[in-house]
Amino acid sequence: MPRVIRSYARRERPLGAAALALRERLWGQLALDDLAWADLGCGMREVVLDIGFGDGEALLALAAADPARDYVGVEVYRAGLVKVLRGIEQAGLTNVRVIEADAQALVRAVGDARIGAVHVFFPDPWPKARHHKRRLVQAPFLAEVARILRLGGALHLATDWGPYADAMLEAAARVPTLALSDQERGMRPWTRFERRGLRLGQGARDLRFRRIAAVNAAGPP
Ligand SMILES: C[S@@+](CC[C@H](N)C(=O)[O-])C[C@H]1O[C@@H](n2cnc3c(N)ncnc32)[C@H](O)[C@@H]1O
Repeated sequence: MPRVIRSYARRERPLGAAALALRERLWGQLALDDLAWADLGCGMREVVLDIGFGDGEALLALAAADPARDYVGVEVYRAGLVKVLRGIEQAGLTNVRVIEADAQALVRAVGDARIGAVHVFFPDPWPKARHHKRRLVQAPFLAEVARILRLGGALHLATDWGPYADAMLEAAARVPTLALSDQERGMRPWTRFERRGLRLGQGARDLRFRRIAAVNAAGPP
């Protein structure tokens, strides 16, 4: 079997007792399991998928400001998952769910055109050339993201690593069903992670795309 190349590093301390208790209490109510993956977006409301939400600041703020849509966050970082469970409870949000999963597998499991918007904010940049293969945002992944977006659906990427932003643009250019719409941050909230980057002189770049119909390469008859 080919070796799986992960876009994340598993170097987490085990959860403490309080985090484990919170997880135990809220998981059944606020987390979606593997079986629910494929059903994402089957409901009446539009789904926004936040991939790699970290501590969840953007996920929680955007969901609170947008109660008409459902927000689903996918993460592998357990402490982040617990923080979001706590945040959902504290803010009384009813439109946020989390999934503990590798987003690459999750996206592959979602049906065509089910999702209204996908956010990938500050994916790990893997700056060393020998690690570029671990970057999440590459053309095959973007093709899968485009497949699960409804026509007109939005993909919002943000990174504070300039060369990664360039690589993202190149990768997206290889996906004919994605069109760059603008490079504005829009409603994307500031997060602790981003503010730290700014202090280090790393400004963020936002790349926003729309899911468009496939252009027939042969052109009109
Ligand atoms: C640099 S952090 C950014 C977090 C957050 N989006 C923000 O803007 O602050 C990248 C996050 O992506 C998560 N991640 C990386 N690869 C992932 C994958 N394949 N599936 C799910 N989460 C992933 C990591 O665990 C990490 O929390």
